[in-house]
Amino acid sequence: MFVGVDHIGIAVKTLDEALEIFEKKLGLKLEKTRVVEEQKVRVAVLSTGGETKIELLEAISPDSPVAKFLEKKGEGIHHIALKVKGIENLMLKMKDRGLRLVNETPRTGIDGAKIAFIHPKSTKNVLIEFYEE
Ligand code: CO
Repeated sequence: MFVGVDHIGIAVKTLDEALEIFEKKLGLKLEKTRVVEEQKVRVAVLSTGGETKIELLEAISPDSPVAKFLEKKGEGIHHIALKVKGIENLMLKMKDRGLRLVNETPRTGIDGAKIAFIHPKSTKNVLIEFYEE
């Protein structure tokens, strides 16, 4: 089941440059910076004051999914992460309903969160992440 929007992921060329805008100018509070090895990204998590965070994503390798996204589309919104409970069941349900999953089993996100992605081809070109703490 869904319990909210956990975060919106934004692909950026460099965190330093993006933080100048989102932290310094826009004024969002930087909560933490983490490397997510599996996704080959460095992530800056910014608080919006509510439940939903903004995550800035910087590729740490040319074969990172974020590097490929930047190449194709440039900087901008990369994904929407729905906070879920029971991620495995939900993934099975989505598969049954004909949605294409990027991962067959959950992957590891920030601080041990379980994450999975639905292929954007299935969902009107919007990459949707399931995120379970
Ligand atoms: Co995410």
